Amino acid sequence: MNREPNHRLKYYLAPLEGLTTYVFRRAYHKYFGGIDKYFTPFITGRGLSSRGQNEILPEHNAGMRLVPQILTNRADEFLELAGQITDYGYDTVNLNLGCPSGTVTAKKRGAGFLEFPDELKRFLDEIYAKCPIKVSIKTRIGISDISEWERLLQVYAEFPMGELIIHPRLQREFYKGQPHRDAFRRAQESISVPLCYNGDITSHESLSTLLEELPSVDTVMIGRGILQRPYLPALFKGDIQTDSTENILPSLRAFHDELLEGYQAIMSGDLPTLHKMKDFWAFFSCGFESPEKYLKKIRKANKITDYKIAVNDLFQACPVTFSGCTGCRSCCTPKEKTPPPP
Ligand SMILES: Cc1cc2nc3c(=O)[nH]c(=O)nc-3n(C[C@H](O)[C@H](O)[C@H](O)COP(=O)(O)O)c2cc1C
Repeated sequence: MNREPNHRLKYYLAPLEGLTTYVFRRAYHKYFGGIDKYFTPFITGRGLSSRGQNEILPEHNAGMRLVPQILTNRADEFLELAGQITDYGYDTVNLNLGCPSGTVTAKKRGAGFLEFPDELKRFLDEIYAKCPIKVSIKTRIGISDISEWERLLQVYAEFPMGELIIHPRLQREFYKGQPHRDAFRRAQESISVPLCYNGDITSHESLSTLLEELPSVDTVMIGRGILQRPYLPALFKGDIQTDSTENILPSLRAFHDELLEGYQAIMSGDLPTLHKMKDFWAFFSCGFESPEKYLKKIRKANKITDYKIAVNDLFQACPVTFSGCTGCRSCCTPKEKTPPPP
């Protein structure tokens, strides 16, 4: 397995609704970095909500290259949001065609829009004609059968997209099974837009396997792998020299504490803050050896003081684990959140 630093690849942080918020990204950028582009979790509705605004405010994203993401199937809604995003100085907006959650797809949004390629094409015709800034797309490869991918590729080939980010799974697969790497290869052969690979990169091993199978990939987007092991891109790039617990634990701790303080500063009361932190630990705990006993205490905590004791115990007792997580019930089979009401 190749563990040499990879300076050729570009690394993107995947958007994860409720998890990779601006509070997360800010703390992440301070302690780990190594990310070439950050994406906001999806923004939806008519016009920017205060949540959407907070995600994209330049002062909340200082020093980062950020791409705001929109989830909609209505061109007027997309263009209104994209117009507001443009006013904040952004030069690219991303369209979510990947969310597999039932409540989203039932409304023909996210991956649900992929079932209607002709309608999708009309939508793209309008937004590419009128959007004042570049539009990139994040997509799955179809709904229930990989044969759907060919038609979608034909549609995508018609548009001058800044970038196409592909999570090569079907909507019906959610996060199960292996990503269809052959579908990514098919995109490499058939369209000329810049491509980014996304899916299941959680360790040196998984990155090496990907690059053996798809050697010309030059950009990868990582989601759950970064929540489990936030230092992963810095490690891949060689910015961190070794992957030992002593080397990595202090920054994991400082990052965690800043995340907690960040949420405490904007949320009212212990419970909403703890809710956020517990969602984060569903992934973050997978970066530690045998965290279960401590994780249970974290999950049970209803007060910040109890939570802090449980977190201290975990940091003291559990060494960092460097092998990727495969098949756990917490981060490997996540439920994607449904969008908040507009
Ligand atoms: C809890 C959760 C929330 C997500 N939210 C979004 C989102 O807002 N926008 C989006 O494009 N993808 C979203 N995704 C999908 C991820 O961006 C990514 O495509 C997926 O997790 C696969 O990449 P990974 O294996 O590196 O995690 C979400 C995934 C999860 C598990």
